[in-house]
Amino acid sequence: MNSKALQIGLAGLGTVGTGVYETLCRNNDLLQARTGIPYAVKRVAVRDIHRKRDVEIDPALLTDNWRELVEDPEIDIVIELIGGTDEAHELVKAALNAHKPVVTGNKALLAEYGGELFRLSAETSTPLYFEASCGGGIPIIQSLQNSLVCNHVRRITGIINGTSNYILSSMERKGISYREALDAAQRKGYAEADPTLDVNGWDAAHKALILAMLAYGTPLSPESIAVYGIERVTPVDFHFARELGYNIKLLMVIRHHEESDALELRVQPSFVSRHHMLSNVYGVFNAIAVHGDIVGETIFYGRGAGKNPTASAVLGDVMLAMRERRHPEYHSGFHPYTKQLSLMPLEDTVTPYYVRFQVSDTPGIIATIATELAKFDIGISATMSRGHEDVEETCDLVFLLHACPWGRLCRALAELGERPGIAPHPAVFRIETLNEEA
Ligand code: HSE
Repeated sequence: MNSKALQIGLAGLGTVGTGVYETLCRNNDLLQARTGIPYAVKRVAVRDIHRKRDVEIDPALLTDNWRELVEDPEIDIVIELIGGTDEAHELVKAALNAHKPVVTGNKALLAEYGGELFRLSAETSTPLYFEASCGGGIPIIQSLQNSLVCNHVRRITGIINGTSNYILSSMERKGISYREALDAAQRKGYAEADPTLDVNGWDAAHKALILAMLAYGTPLSPESIAVYGIERVTPVDFHFARELGYNIKLLMVIRHHEESDALELRVQPSFVSRHHMLSNVYGVFNAIAVHGDIVGETIFYGRGAGKNPTASAVLGDVMLAMRERRHPEYHSGFHPYTKQLSLMPLEDTVTPYYVRFQVSDTPGIIATIATELAKFDIGISATMSRGHEDVEETCDLVFLLHACPWGRLCRALAELGERPGIAPHPAVFRIETLNEEA
């Protein structure tokens, strides 16, 4: 056995970086026993070497220049946890060009530059690992790369943003508004001071892009995905969802349409049947359902963020990187980056819908809406109404609509928004059919 210790360079000592460093030190015996490979952390790049830290670290390890990690011929593996997309992009490219395997948890980086970086990884024959970029501690990336490798992936759906799921869970359980739930999440430290990317759907979209690139080997960029956030979800919609047997979740949907070889890719607040496991994922937890042609439906559940869950994912990759560094013939099944699929335009995507109109409570209003929908060949499967307590003679009118293309629904709703007595911009949620058949 080659007993020379592999040398690790760690860039970033924030929350996750600290968790990684602590675990590398604390579980050193366990990790060496399991991999049979001794290792040491040789250098840690930080922004400010003088800052007081929560972790005990030999100051001699610290540098404020990440290039020292990449240029040090003794460093075997680089862990990128500095975040952002500018410097991190430079760092990952430089490390791959120096033939140092890279472990990153940077979803925004991969969503934006994944195509380029996966190509560079292939060209330099230097692996790029990114388990921590999706779903925190949930081992979804290695599962797609290895355990599920024999499957054509038909569909990946899931809840992959903990903050928004915490907010929706509070709204559902306590009947409070979006604003109140967001404030509570911030007070408890679940939501960042700036929670924009969590609530507008873009954090989930970055993760969805990575999963789609991995599952289909197709180049994607942020323009490829349709994204809606949770800001417009109201307690009234939770009321109707409950009555109708649904919960509301910010859902990522990645679906391969075999007949057109097109990929449907979107993140939206959606109605999910209370009978489906995803509807019972609460708080900051994430869950990802993968449907493969051979395996059928699988569901991965766990903590999607936080110091230790994310460190666990990073370290799974680090151990893989060490094995591959020591035994180059051992391959984790890195997905070749070759396939080119078309993207399904959002307006062609088809689901049933929940639509809630705010209307004047006048005779014939239901008939007006039903007639207009019929003109667009949109059928109604159920309707419900509830009067407004605060505004007399107005009510919420809910329609469950049969499946139709999104574009057609939008055109019908635009026409209806111009009718007297019907407020424009009704609340619209897709009803996601997540049955065993993908
Ligand atoms: N802010 C993310 C979430 C975690 O709330 O799930 C990091 O991706």
